[in-house]
Amino acid sequence: MAKKFHLGWFMNFIPPEWDTDHASPDVADWATGDFYVDMARSMERAGFDFMMIEDTAMVADAYGGTMEGSLKHSVFAPKHDPLPLAIKVAASTSKMGVVATLSTSFYPPYLLARACSTADSIARGRFGWNIVSSAEDRAAQNFGLDRLFEHDERYDRADEYFDVVTQLWDSWEPDAVVMDRETHTYADFNKVHTIDFVGKYFKSRGPLNTIPSPQHRPTILQAGASPRGRQFAAKAADAIVAVGTGVAGMKEYRDDIRRRAAEMGRDPDEIKLMFCVSPVIGPSKEAALEQMERLVSDDRYVEKTLVGISSNTEIDFSQFDWDEPLPQDLTTNGELGSLKHFMRGDGSGPQQTLRQLAVTSAKQGIEFIGTADSVAEEMGEAMAAIGGDGFLIAKPGWDLSRKYITDICDGLVPALQRRGLVRDQYEGTTLRAILHEF
Ligand SMILES: Cc1cc2nc3c(=O)[nH]c(=O)nc-3n(C[C@H](O)[C@H](O)[C@H](O)COP(=O)(O)O)c2cc1C
Repeated sequence: MAKKFHLGWFMNFIPPEWDTDHASPDVADWATGDFYVDMARSMERAGFDFMMIEDTAMVADAYGGTMEGSLKHSVFAPKHDPLPLAIKVAASTSKMGVVATLSTSFYPPYLLARACSTADSIARGRFGWNIVSSAEDRAAQNFGLDRLFEHDERYDRADEYFDVVTQLWDSWEPDAVVMDRETHTYADFNKVHTIDFVGKYFKSRGPLNTIPSPQHRPTILQAGASPRGRQFAAKAADAIVAVGTGVAGMKEYRDDIRRRAAEMGRDPDEIKLMFCVSPVIGPSKEAALEQMERLVSDDRYVEKTLVGISSNTEIDFSQFDWDEPLPQDLTTNGELGSLKHFMRGDGSGPQQTLRQLAVTSAKQGIEFIGTADSVAEEMGEAMAAIGGDGFLIAKPGWDLSRKYITDICDGLVPALQRRGLVRDQYEGTTLRAILHEF
């Protein structure tokens, strides 16, 4: 019997496909969130662990020094706030988890701890927080800063931030709410405590003014891949969302995290590694390959991809010739892991052109293109070789269509279920419990 693996979906609150053959008639209404509620219902029917809503808070102008590319192609702009969508999704589902991305660089800790606690109560314990420290000066400038903090200092702040919010979530003892009718006491004041936190970066008196939520603290997801990022994840994360290159790269990543977790005294099985993949499913392998080829051979796809990577790294990729190899000495104070992953291409050497790198990036770390059955088979083999713990679906080209959601939820997932590779029903009732089912 194969070991089961977990499934999440990495998406954002952006316009879905609107100018293609697969655009839904109601796409103009995407900002109501209804499109994504439909998606969540399909995912829950398929038994996904969670929907994870990515976030950044800016309109990027890194590509060519203008906002044109971002807004014209709607590459991460517009992008709406993930928290209200997460709450709408939670209220429209009953079993699957939902994860919102909130930044430690911009949210004051008290505000975040309170928002997450409230969301987890509304979600009846199915809420997760993707803890990011943000990676763009343009976002920092929307919050009164000229520049983002340096890479490692962002993690030092995130470390301390995590301690403050954890203490705030612990500021109510689990049995503080007594609702004693005889003494007319709602909460026992002896069981609610100030935290009087004074750190290098943050100060908070506490206590939180919310009751303990079902999970007490939300399920914590984390994404940083640098050594400092991995160290932080090993301390704080319930699950890590990751990009890895090939089975070998993913196995190395997972082994490293498990080693770090054990060194910190944590049970490595407590942390689930989820690797981004972008399966393309068709009625035949040829049809699926053709579908991918149609996407990546379009110059608009290449430009959108370059606008996106420019936005995350704040490197202007419009300065490079698409058909020349990319200089190898690029670096960033932004998403270094994403830059390295992008530049590595398909691992076939340093001579790939920028266009080839953009094409490769559509496939993420492992190419899964074929029929539902052939891809399910390949995913099972890859996961067995990696050792665990799951895959995170990310659509090639990002903007979603109902067709893609159906291909995954009603094509690929049933094929995985037939092989016993993923769940076909939920046992856990909180997101943390769902992640610990296997
Ligand atoms: C799969 C994945 C998802 C991410 N999601 C977000 C996000 O939603 N918002 C954000 O600001 N950063 C996001 N990041 C960036 C990371 O949080 C982190 O800032 C970045 O990877 C740089 O850290 P590192 O140098 O430790 O890798 C994501 C990164 C990866 C690999």
